Amino acid sequence: MYKIAVIPGDGTGPEVVSEALKVLDTVAKKHGIKYETQIYDFGGERYLRTGEVLPPGAIDELRKFDAIILGAIGHPEVKPGILEKGILLRIRFELDQYINLRPVKLYPGVDCPLAGKGPEDIDFVVVRENTEGLYCGMGGFLKKGTPDEVATQLMVNTRKGVERCIRYAFEYCRKRSKQKKLTLCGKTNVLTYAHDLWDRTFNEVAKDYPDIKTEYVHVDACCMWMVKNPEWFDVIVTCNMFGDIITDLGAAIQGGMGIAAGGNINPDPGGVSMFEPIGGSAPKYTGKGVINPLASISSVDMMLRHLGEEEAGKDIEKAIMYVTKEKLKSLAAGKMGYSTSEVGDLVCEAIIKGLAP
Ligand code: IPM
Ligand code: MN
Repeated sequence: MYKIAVIPGDGTGPEVVSEALKVLDTVAKKHGIKYETQIYDFGGERYLRTGEVLPPGAIDELRKFDAIILGAIGHPEVKPGILEKGILLRIRFELDQYINLRPVKLYPGVDCPLAGKGPEDIDFVVVRENTEGLYCGMGGFLKKGTPDEVATQLMVNTRKGVERCIRYAFEYCRKRSKQKKLTLCGKTNVLTYAHDLWDRTFNEVAKDYPDIKTEYVHVDACCMWMVKNPEWFDVIVTCNMFGDIITDLGAAIQGGMGIAAGGNINPDPGGVSMFEPIGGSAPKYTGKGVINPLASISSVDMMLRHLGEEEAGKDIEKAIMYVTKEKLKSLAAGKMGYSTSEVGDLVCEAIIKGLAP
């Protein structure tokens, strides 16, 4: 019996999560998977009502689950940073979800903005470090608001944090068994301390993985190659900030935020991981039933595979591919040709009937 915490969150989060849960229910019945869910109302509305971002004890409560499903965090009436740092980043950090796993895969039937590229060209995974780097929250102001103001934001890279991320990426690349190529994305020509640590650690760890080809790219060039030759990539490992940026580009080449999913993974025994669509709360589409739920549904595929329910995860992916290929006009909000809940229904129907592209 899996225990799953659900945080629908803000904006369109609840709409997409409700489709994701519908699909989870369908696939669980098919595969005899037993689970129970508990819903948490963390997010902007709760914060505006109570002044509290996360109630005391929330993090420890989340530790008791096997996984967490998250919708979206971010509210137009709340100053940027409060909810992101107070909920999303806090969960990532305190549950030590040190990997942010973000597959970039173009499904059949999906419009790709890259001329001449198709599903055979776009299939790679970004392993983003998820607890350090520029996200650590260290730094501050001096003489704030004066002409002499100083603002610092520290980029923290620990040997332990870098190494565990790189090791995970090598293991993942081996298990994935596609091109067996791991690319380190950094900026060693400018970040001569921080990314020197990444580079040295990468080369040292590589010795334990003679079956994996390795390569290094600077982050700016990485963006160029993702557009020009996405087929070169198999697995990319990178720091927190670069991973944030390149995965939005990744989402764009796989068809947009409507399809891009990610897992915040704590791979250690007993670790609790959290799965989410990587797009935001999309306030302008909220409550209209037009947002694409496939990213959230896809995050449930990732969750199931993470829990060891490989076949159930594959079933969801096949159903999504069937729906993108045979049904949806577009992946963009309001242009799918179906409402949010109809897309959820289409995926469920494909799972039940075993439809595949
Ligand atoms: C993401 C988001 C978050 C991040 C924000 C909301 C803090 O952009 O998950 O990519 O920067 O990690
Ligand atoms: Mn982001």
